[in-house]
Amino acid sequence: MTMHNNDRGSFKNVIVVGQGYVGLPISISAAKSGYKVFGFDISEEKIIQLQNGVINSPEVQKEDLLRLQKKGKITFTNSIPKLSDKSIIVIAVPTPLDNNRNPDLNMLKKACEMISTVLVDQSLVINESTSFIGTLRNFIKPAIEENSLAAEVKYAVAPERIDPGNSTWGIHNTPRLISGLDDDATGLAKDFYSKFCKIIHTVSKPEVAEAAKLFENTFRHVNIALVNEFSNITQAFGISTHETIQAAATKPFGFMPFYPGIGVGGHCIPVDPSYLVYSAESVGYEAQFIELADETNLRMPHVVASRIEKYLGGDLREKRIQIAGISYKPNISDLRESPALVLMKVLIDLGAQVSWCDPYVKKYNGQSSNELDNNIDLGLIITPHDTLNFSTWKISGVKVLDLSANIQNFGWPKFL
Ligand SMILES: NC(=O)c1ccc[n+]([C@@H]2O[C@H](COP(=O)([O-])OP(=O)(O)OC[C@H]3O[C@@H](n4cnc5c(N)ncnc54)[C@H](O)[C@@H]3O)[C@@H](O)[C@H]2O)c1
Repeated sequence: MTMHNNDRGSFKNVIVVGQGYVGLPISISAAKSGYKVFGFDISEEKIIQLQNGVINSPEVQKEDLLRLQKKGKITFTNSIPKLSDKSIIVIAVPTPLDNNRNPDLNMLKKACEMISTVLVDQSLVINESTSFIGTLRNFIKPAIEENSLAAEVKYAVAPERIDPGNSTWGIHNTPRLISGLDDDATGLAKDFYSKFCKIIHTVSKPEVAEAAKLFENTFRHVNIALVNEFSNITQAFGISTHETIQAAATKPFGFMPFYPGIGVGGHCIPVDPSYLVYSAESVGYEAQFIELADETNLRMPHVVASRIEKYLGGDLREKRIQIAGISYKPNISDLRESPALVLMKVLIDLGAQVSWCDPYVKKYNGQSSNELDNNIDLGLIITPHDTLNFSTWKISGVKVLDLSANIQNFGWPKFL
């Protein structure tokens, strides 16, 4: 049976698979645009939280969440809904690395298996999860079709670029890359996203969109590695890295400032370059430059710990150190790949007594967040959340080092 574009445009239902930093804002945006949305997540705890208006995504307002549920425009569920009508199914599940820093697509595979059990003819499957080049064509489509008899299903990618906590660029105004496995799929995905994204940029193949997503985060990753390496050079010369970068940034063309930090964190910057390395390897190319950047950034917590040890006289045993902010970036609670956690472990291994204060993180490793304390040998600013109040440290005159990649000056030496 041939399908007509008009038939395809008439989707009423959207199932969003995964209700995390990426999936939840899509669910809310689609519901506000008039779709009937099912926000599906395998985590029962998450679903109960969402049903009660508890969210950790800075992109979503609690009032919207509760209002849309009350009006029946969105339903949160931990069993994938079996609908009789064709639907748009958006995949937004984690795509982490395994212990060898290779892609771990187990959650994506599981998501595909679940989708295949409910897929209806003429549905549209859209992948937003970041993955290696060719994932839609060579992994998602076969994984779904292995177990599904649904006919005329269309497939597209629309890689997510969200930057949780960014108040300037959100899903509505960040240009959206889209491509389908055929023109029909591209058109349908474009129709869907144009309901809540201002700028859509379609590309010729899903592989272009997948590669662009990996490249933009790898661009950031290698530039951070470069500036982290540069900080070792400026330190050796006894000059300020920040002042030097700000001086370089006065050049109005051909330069973009990046600032050093103790490493990179989150589910994107430390992870996506390894998906690009994996893609390169799959076609017989060794992406040495990207791998070196990865090593440089992964080494940073260790480099910084040695500098701190030296700063405190060469011995950290019994030294009381407090860290301000342990999530991977300001104003969110996400601890994934946070280099603060690595630094904390290295400092503890070197004998320090480490406590931490993070208003966004209730518990980590069985420990709770502490108030900022002045009965310490050293305070470290790592993730300066807006709600952190440094007055205790300021008034007491305790030693503090600023290790944040933030350009804001808190009044203490930038130690990188
Ligand atoms: N967080 C970001 O800033 C960001 C930005 C752009 C792209 N991405 C990409 O988006 C994807 C999702 O990332 P995230 O940050 O939203 O992750 P997340 O951990 O915040 O949320 C993912 C959710 O998926 C759920 N889940 C796992 N397997 C499932 C399954 N089989 N069925 C249903 N739900 C399942 C988890 O319980 C979790 O709640 C990843 O590929 C990531 O690389 C993330």
